[in-house]
Amino acid sequence: MPAEIVGLGIAVPPYVLTNADLEELVDTNDQWITERTGIKERRIAGRDDSTATLGKRAAEQALRVAGVDLDEVDLLLVATATPDYTLPSASCVLQLELGMTRGAAMDVIAGCSGFVYALATASQFVSSGAADTALVVGSETLSRICDYTDRGTCILFGDGAGAVVLRRGEQGIRAFSLGADGARSRLLMTPAGGSRFPANARTVAERRHYIVMEGREVFKGAVTAMAASSLEAIRRSGLEPDDIDLVVPHQANQRIIEATARRLKVPMSDVVMNIARYGNTSAASIPIAIAEAWEQGQIRPGQRLLLTAFGAGLAWGSLVTDWTLPPPAEPSPEEPTQSAMPIVRGLLDGSLWDGKDLLPPLPGAGAGAGPVPEAAL
Ligand code: UT7
Repeated sequence: MPAEIVGLGIAVPPYVLTNADLEELVDTNDQWITERTGIKERRIAGRDDSTATLGKRAAEQALRVAGVDLDEVDLLLVATATPDYTLPSASCVLQLELGMTRGAAMDVIAGCSGFVYALATASQFVSSGAADTALVVGSETLSRICDYTDRGTCILFGDGAGAVVLRRGEQGIRAFSLGADGARSRLLMTPAGGSRFPANARTVAERRHYIVMEGREVFKGAVTAMAASSLEAIRRSGLEPDDIDLVVPHQANQRIIEATARRLKVPMSDVVMNIARYGNTSAASIPIAIAEAWEQGQIRPGQRLLLTAFGAGLAWGSLVTDWTLPPPAEPSPEEPTQSAMPIVRGLLDGSLWDGKDLLPPLPGAGAGAGPVPEAAL
């Protein structure tokens, strides 16, 4: 039996960074950003948010929609390029935030295609019976690795999280196609902070902990790979391109999405778009787009969806699923927003972290807390 999406959730921070704000930070303008990317604004995580805390809110909503208890989750996968720590994994920190003390937890690192990779992986656990319930979260705090002095990248990225719950069902994920080309890894990376180039005074002084990208090359690769892997996933699903009702692409650049849609011969009216409001949220972009489109009734039972993504690695993936979940009675209310500029200025000069505790919180009394029981030593 296939794995079926039975719940989904979304979490975006309330802090909005507009194109006009970026004009104050770097040599750019609203017209350039809008015409070249389609982005008008993006969300920026507040000081107390992280990949795990945003993921927590999205995951809790997804579990609520699914009517599934936390202790029923057998497998938690977090797709992210911005884990809270190098060690432990973002998924274990998310477990801590959720209060989840059973089940397996691991991260999937595949850049912007991370959510498709994670969904494909979880679907195999669920459809094979290795897990009954999987929680798949795409969560990012890209503002933390974004250089707000580099106009080539800082205009693109935003923060947020989306989550889905998977269980076996009559209909669901039909097929996927994943690919990668490490030979082109240099086109999009954060050069320092890993084992090749660990953090030191020089890496900080040279601003090597931020995303660097050769945008034009990545752009070309994205269109080619997203179109080809989409067609392969459709073929593997036993469908024809005409059978796809709705495409949910990774929201990297409006022009990439339009070019991919042209190659797939899909009208833009059948493509989910929210890039104008969130920018590129990497592994979070597809689950955020699905959750919003579902809440707004654009995704309905009986439809066949194609998800497709491309990003750092370079890595890409596409997945075809039947949709079964009825839309909610009413969409979630819009949360009030405020300017992200004080946060971005605090990121730039480091003052955002003044007085901040660097360690994850220890859970209070209850499951998972306290010393290891003597019997276990
Ligand atoms: O999530 C998956 C991974 N990421 C992506 O898929 C992103 C893929 N790439 C892109 O979206 C685009 O390449 C960008 C939006 C990053 C750049 O757009 P582009 O049309 O490829 O521009 P470009 O890099 O070729 O630059 C064209 C010009 C350059 O000036 P010159 O050399 O022609 O004088 C840039 O310096 O635009 C200039 N430019 C800007 N001007 C104003 C670059 N960034 C900016 C900016 N504002 N923010």
